[in-house]
Amino acid sequence: MSKPSKPSPPDTLPANDALTRLIGLGDRSIRKSYYPQLKKKITELETFQFLMDRAADSIFLVRVDPHSIEYANDAATTLMRLSKDEMLCASVSDVFGHQVAADLEKNLDADSGETIQATKDGLVLEMSVTSHVVNDAPYIVIVARDITQRVQAELELQRLQVLLKGIVESMPSTLIGVDMNGTISQWNRQAEQLTGIDSTLALKRPLAEVYPRLANLIMHVHRAVKEQSPQILSRVLHHRQGHLVYEDITVFPLDIGKDGGAVIRIDDITKRVHMEELMIQSEKMMSVGGLAAGMAHEINNPLGGILQGAQNIRRRLLEDIPANQEAADRHQCSLETIRAYMQERSIPKMLDGITNSGARAARIVTNMLNFSRKSDSQMAPNDLNAILDHALELASSDYNLKKKYDFRKITIIRDYSQQLPPLRCSATEIEQVLLNLLTNAAHAYNGTDEPAEGRTIRLGTSLSGDSAVIEIEDNGPGMDEETRKHIFEPFFTTKEPGVGTGLGLSVSYYIITQNHGGEFVVHSAPGQGTRFTISLPID
Ligand SMILES: Nc1ncnc2c1ncn2[C@@H]1O[C@H](COP(=O)(O)OP(=O)(O)OP(=O)(O)O)[C@@H](O)[C@H]1O
Ligand SMILES: [Mg+2]
Repeated sequence: MSKPSKPSPPDTLPANDALTRLIGLGDRSIRKSYYPQLKKKITELETFQFLMDRAADSIFLVRVDPHSIEYANDAATTLMRLSKDEMLCASVSDVFGHQVAADLEKNLDADSGETIQATKDGLVLEMSVTSHVVNDAPYIVIVARDITQRVQAELELQRLQVLLKGIVESMPSTLIGVDMNGTISQWNRQAEQLTGIDSTLALKRPLAEVYPRLANLIMHVHRAVKEQSPQILSRVLHHRQGHLVYEDITVFPLDIGKDGGAVIRIDDITKRVHMEELMIQSEKMMSVGGLAAGMAHEINNPLGGILQGAQNIRRRLLEDIPANQEAADRHQCSLETIRAYMQERSIPKMLDGITNSGARAARIVTNMLNFSRKSDSQMAPNDLNAILDHALELASSDYNLKKKYDFRKITIIRDYSQQLPPLRCSATEIEQVLLNLLTNAAHAYNGTDEPAEGRTIRLGTSLSGDSAVIEIEDNGPGMDEETRKHIFEPFFTTKEPGVGTGLGLSVSYYIITQNHGGEFVVHSAPGQGTRFTISLPID
């Protein structure tokens, strides 16, 4: 660094004694009569020097033309890592860089505090620089404030803000920040997805206006803040686009004092609730199903005895077989007399009653035995679409079904995938499941005002990952929540006594989950129809 030559001052003062010029002490002033003033001036000068060197900001006195540094305080030499002598040999561009020197050229009085960066000994310095013209003198004062720490703190703050925003945005939960008046301060991406409302439209507006469904949460916000403890609302049920949705809602008070507001976190737990229901379902099935199967075994033998007995009574009383005739003759009594007596006492009707009830009990027992039967032996590769077609055929030709429901009046939509590979399963069992679903769907239209023409059952098959999926969907009355929860339980039925056994779905469930390692779920809501979805693994 070379010190540029300076133009001679207009008077005879020493050319380089700028400070002396500034405070008015030229050699012409040194006269004895001036001693007291001189002493005072020196004291002032020392005080001034003292103050300058104690200043936290770096202060430079710079000649206007050229921009050579005439004076720098202690803070300046420390900041720039230069000695006083080195500093006095330097120019503005040596110390602050060319840009500041050029800016100074354009504007001597820059009050606004430009932020500049300088590298000293490998360290990056951030400085806020202002310049002021010293009265009319050809000097300017440059004040540089070291703001490296502040800039770094600001950068750190920005980084944290970005990080925090990233965390909030990537959370799978809906996060909504509100103050005590319910004004929204935070609305993350998940909140946008849940509500369909963009954050720009939500922020700074009242929650009750933006998303009225959550208006009642303001009460919980107040309570959370007052008690400084989270408010937890579990399994809140609501309807979303015709579906039932479960949510866990937690209101966390913000830890920034009494007026801090709160963060509302909403988690959609519908899938979890369904999983839990399925697990409970499976457990129930295992215990109740096992019990039912055990009971069925025990009932089977006596029931067989009853049915066989009833059949024998009928044969021995009502049929014309020689043994009957011989026995009647032995007792001097005609078979006609015996039959007339029986008819009068309605005994054949009673026998029919015993046989019918026994047959119904036998059907129940057969169903209950399904709970313990393993069907490995019947497992074979099958065409699922063909099984569905066969089940449909069975349903429409089933005499009992035809008696009550005319399947032809129901529109059947076949929505089959042609991509399904052969599926290893027990065709008769899957047919049994499908037949029960079709019967249930047909049953469901009973008692609805739905005109017969509008009744539709859709049968769909598709491939989903490693599973073949069957969907049986009707547009019947659907089920309420309470019914839906229980339908897979053995003996649960909403049909009149004697009409349904309530075993259809529980056996179907067992066949799908236990015998085939599949999944069986139902979606239904009142007025929304019912959809059963069966997933069967393709191995
Ligand atoms: N598609 C459907 N629409 C509305 N409700 C249904 C439907 N399918 C089943 N349900 C309900 O589920 C209950 C249980 O069905 P499940 O097949 O287990 O027994 P069920 O049909 O009553 O008797 P069963 O099958 O022995 O004749 C039914 O009583 C009915 O309330
Ligand atoms: Mg049924």
